[in-house]
Amino acid sequence: MLKGKTAVITGSGRGIGKAIALKLASLGANIVVNDIPSSAYADDTAEEIKKLGVEAICVKGDVRSKDDVDNLVKTALDTFGKIDIFVNNAGITRDGLILRMSEEDWDMVMDINLKGAFNCIKAVARPMMKNKGGAIINIASIVGVAGNAGQANYVASKAGLIGLTKTTAKEFAKKGIRCNAIAPGFITSDMTDKLSDEVKAQYFSAIPLNKFGTTEDIANAVAFLASDMSGYITGQVINVDGGFVM
Ligand SMILES: NC(=O)c1ccc[n+]([C@@H]2O[C@H](COP(=O)([O-])OP(=O)(O)OC[C@H]3O[C@@H](n4cnc5c(N)ncnc54)[C@H](O)[C@@H]3O)[C@@H](O)[C@H]2O)c1
Repeated sequence: MLKGKTAVITGSGRGIGKAIALKLASLGANIVVNDIPSSAYADDTAEEIKKLGVEAICVKGDVRSKDDVDNLVKTALDTFGKIDIFVNNAGITRDGLILRMSEEDWDMVMDINLKGAFNCIKAVARPMMKNKGGAIINIASIVGVAGNAGQANYVASKAGLIGLTKTTAKEFAKKGIRCNAIAPGFITSDMTDKLSDEVKAQYFSAIPLNKFGTTEDIANAVAFLASDMSGYITGQVINVDGGFVM
């Protein structure tokens, strides 16, 4: 389905990003893995992807840095000649109630989750226009749709990412570039492993499908939005959350 396509996925050394990279590779895409410069696992992820019979490289860099992002896009283009699919997946949490949230924690989450995606969209838009199209997929969160006490910075960054998705879709639709977001619910991963059993139980009781999501659930939705099967879909947010928010 994606044979000959090139996909760049930020924060894809582990977790949801890695699952997305493996899924797109299993459908034939060549992959550019990205993760923070100090990542101990991103190189291994690229090696694992190569075993699926596609080409893969690892380009480390911090999405907050315009220079790092420009280098990520340039290296992808130098290696594969084009970028067809770009997934803004890199993201962090620094949770706390508003009255206790430090300015540093607010800034860091906004910088990585929202400004990072802006840096990437800005860098990849021109090459995609030159290539007469592309698919940008932003990994938001269901809390960016519904709000969540204790996550003001994260929620604001993900709600902002949804706004950025719709604006990107409108600005580039005529150039053949589609931009959509996925809003995952509670997905079993390193990010959610650190939550208390009490918080996990609260989420669980509110999920109609009666199970937590997997990284593969998100990867499957990304594969759909990355492929021509979603060719008439842009500016949308798909909730992948077991029915948590309807
Ligand atoms: N796990 C969930 O339940 C859940 C739910 C909703 C949304 N999400 C979103 O999905 C995405 C992936 O989450 P995950 O659960 O796999 O988290 P994770 O922490 O397991 O993986 C995130 C990856 O992003 C990388 N990263 C962090 N900062 C970066 C930066 N500045 N530049 C480049 N890479 C950076 C990390 O090193 C890590 O490898 C995030 O955007 C997250 O907000 C996750």
